[in-house]
Amino acid sequence: MNTSSENDSFSSLIDDLAGRGWAQQTLFAPPALTRELAAECLRRAYGGQLSPAGIGRGSSQQVQEGIRGDRIQWLEPGQHAACDQYLQLMDELRLALNCNLYLGLEDFESHFACYEPGAFYQRHLDRFRDDDRRTVSAVFYLNEDWQAAQGGALRLYLNDGGEHEVLPQAGTLVLFLSAEMPHEVLPANRERLSLTGWFRRRGDTPL
Ligand code: OGA
Ligand code: MN
Repeated sequence: MNTSSENDSFSSLIDDLAGRGWAQQTLFAPPALTRELAAECLRRAYGGQLSPAGIGRGSSQQVQEGIRGDRIQWLEPGQHAACDQYLQLMDELRLALNCNLYLGLEDFESHFACYEPGAFYQRHLDRFRDDDRRTVSAVFYLNEDWQAAQGGALRLYLNDGGEHEVLPQAGTLVLFLSAEMPHEVLPANRERLSLTGWFRRRGDTPL
């Protein structure tokens, strides 16, 4: 098996995800890359390129700010060097997840997300009822110097009845099983920036 240094650096993420359904790593990406991604997210937010996020998928998608108040833009390869570097890093993680956990992950989709102060995303699961491809959710945070008093935590509802909160601190990556881990985004008193994505496997349902 390939035991490259990239794969080794993912080993605790992979072990934690396999053991308890979620994993968290601070300093997941080089700080310079995280800063470039944050700058690109802000450039898109202030350039009016982010759109209100919907609930559900396809033609049944609806914007409901009482459920979900973030604005998003999907990443496309070839648009921006830092975004391409991030997609490359996540592809290495995808291959490492497949090698170690046999998840059969085929691709990774990701969007920038910006929550204005007061915006939130109510408790939900990331896997759609009519599309079971989303397997591992991955959120990478972009705000420098986040303080607990600013709110905005991601709250995971664990299957033992407990809860775990992750502060959206620049450089932190959180992974969790998309079909099994209910979670919510608490409101913050500061703009909250992230890259949210999903590793997807081949679906059982036709597209
Ligand atoms: C989502 C989500 C979590 C976060 O976009 O589905 O749950 O911490 N995001 O931004
Ligand atoms: Mn979610």
